[in-house]
Amino acid sequence: MGPQAGTRPMTISEQADELEERMMHELSDKIATKSVLFNMADGKVAMESGAALQAQNPGKYFLMGADPRLPKMPDKPQLIDFFKQRFASTAHLLQSATHALKAGHVLACLLHDIGVVSFIRCDHGYWGAQLIEPYVDEEVSWAIRVHQALRFFPDESAGYAYPDLYRKYFGPDYKPEPYIEEEYQRARNHKHYMTARLICVNDIYSFDPNAKVNLDDFVDIIGRNFKQPKEGLGFDNTPSSHMWRTLMWPTRFL
Ligand SMILES: [Fe+2]
Ligand SMILES: [Fe+2]
Repeated sequence: MGPQAGTRPMTISEQADELEERMMHELSDKIATKSVLFNMADGKVAMESGAALQAQNPGKYFLMGADPRLPKMPDKPQLIDFFKQRFASTAHLLQSATHALKAGHVLACLLHDIGVVSFIRCDHGYWGAQLIEPYVDEEVSWAIRVHQALRFFPDESAGYAYPDLYRKYFGPDYKPEPYIEEEYQRARNHKHYMTARLICVNDIYSFDPNAKVNLDDFVDIIGRNFKQPKEGLGFDNTPSSHMWRTLMWPTRFL
């Protein structure tokens, strides 16, 4: 309780101050570490050694679990918990999935950019596919993997033109690297090509900031099509369990 306890209820701002102080305090007896990747995002290939960090924080141990500054995750987290507590933005995914309600492949559209919203932009299709691979039909993860490459190549017959947004973001002369082109060429003849293409078709119309979308509308679809492990994502010993754990505990020392 705050200093005012027993005299009058705390104001909202006092409550916020107290929460902030408590959260700082909760972390203050542990040392949260920034991995090399976080430093590279600031243009430095650098890491501080454990010894140096502990010398700067005498008497403290390293954080080896949940970071109290981040939203709390349940002990057995489900996909929905990651949507709510770890995905930085979900409007684009929900809008894509809403479009897909007419065309099908809703789960693929709902999850197509989870690599971007939870983890990293570079090669987001590959990261996203790998995260969900143990829990979805092979068609869904395959389509999410290759949508990244297909987005750079038009297919007028499927109603997909090169995105104006990409011209705006990457310049008129941008050409994808050979590995992207090769992925596209492989994907063109694949049996699930149209699923990945549909992700692209629903993708480009999915940036309306005023669209009304709600995660609750997709809970049933997730329940039917995403094999939620009873142990919780991260604790079920699949090839991507470690990735879910890293999203949960990004500042663990090891
Ligand atoms: Fe994408
Ligand atoms: Fe997208």
